[in-house]
Amino acid sequence: MLANRTTRIAVSPTMKVAADALRLKAQGIDVVDLGAGEPDFPTPPHVSAAAHAAIDANFTKYTSNSGTEELKRAVCARYKADYGVEYSTAETIITAGGKQALFNAAMCLFGPGDEVITHMPGWPTLVEQIKLADATPVVVRTHAEDGFELRADAILRAITGRTRGIVINSPGNPTGALISEADMAAVADEAARRGIWLLLDLCYEKLIYDPTPHNLPGILAARHRDRSVFCGSASKAYAMTGWRCGWALAPADLVNACNAIQSHSTSNVCSITQKAAVAALTGPQSCVTAMLDEYRHRRDQTVKWLSAEPRLRLRKPAGAFYLFVDVSEFLSPDGIRTSAALAEALLDEARVAVTPGEAFDAPGFIRISYATSLDVLRRGIRTILEFVRALETRGRAVG
Ligand SMILES: Cc1ncc(COP(=O)(O)O)c(C=O)c1O
Repeated sequence: MLANRTTRIAVSPTMKVAADALRLKAQGIDVVDLGAGEPDFPTPPHVSAAAHAAIDANFTKYTSNSGTEELKRAVCARYKADYGVEYSTAETIITAGGKQALFNAAMCLFGPGDEVITHMPGWPTLVEQIKLADATPVVVRTHAEDGFELRADAILRAITGRTRGIVINSPGNPTGALISEADMAAVADEAARRGIWLLLDLCYEKLIYDPTPHNLPGILAARHRDRSVFCGSASKAYAMTGWRCGWALAPADLVNACNAIQSHSTSNVCSITQKAAVAALTGPQSCVTAMLDEYRHRRDQTVKWLSAEPRLRLRKPAGAFYLFVDVSEFLSPDGIRTSAALAEALLDEARVAVTPGEAFDAPGFIRISYATSLDVLRRGIRTILEFVRALETRGRAVG
């Protein structure tokens, strides 16, 4: 009844947890939500003010399909300031979130018979988009013992004669891990030698906690510019998830192809959003730093609280705003068997929402988002600790 491609993909599992939590909240149930993949901060006031001004000025019509020149210039200027890379507006397209930037690129670049390498545990959309493009995902696994770092040698080993693209997310969701500059350079050199496309998902690029050098765009622009795509987003950096604004920087031919696809699907990003994004990118960046400082504080506190229970294994993430916690010691054949079941029980019985590792192809883990207040985190972590500790007696009772 439905087209074949729908049988190859599943609805985003991260969105399912959010929907379950919302359903309970709508029934008036108090849920401690540690599932959210979005900032709890309001959009900075100067950004919202730009949107109000856009409405008042009746800037409410179609814009150029690929985005306004003003916003494209703002994106290029941001990347020049942040990474020292020079891109023109002809090499820039404005999209409905980073997700559409990645989707457009996958549609333009990948097809039947192509292998596309990406990494897991990771954001499921990257794999599903490869499948939607009728290509074959090749998954490189990263490991908790290694801080989930993506290593060049693992990627290089996965390359075959059919590899058409490599999609890298750094900082990564759900692990917060970064690929090092040296590893990125090694991947870029081999990709350049073989003519393989490199797509960077930079959604969390502004959320790196320690002064780690992480100029991935600079490395790719210098070594492999002809086949590199940078997909960025206003969502997480500027607390603008609902506004739906992202972008891609890529060779002009690819940008033109993305523009054609977008012109027959969604057209331009909301005109008002584009004005807000200009204010975000060109205005003071102190709001980004202030949010980053607060996330760092929450990360450190939450790691400390969780570390009180040594059977929950975790590392301090380098970026993004998630903790990826190994809960396998609390799973058992005669109790709660999987992390998915644990997440479900936590929501149903203890009213705490977390995302199970299964959503990121990593059973045995749960993802805890610290994009929420310290009070909520304190309550949530306390409840999680009580819940998992009580599991042992419960396992014995069931057994
Ligand atoms: C790794 C990663 N990339 C990209 C996105 C896309 O976000 P948006 O479309 O809001 O820019 C997300 C959203 O959660 C994400 O986690």
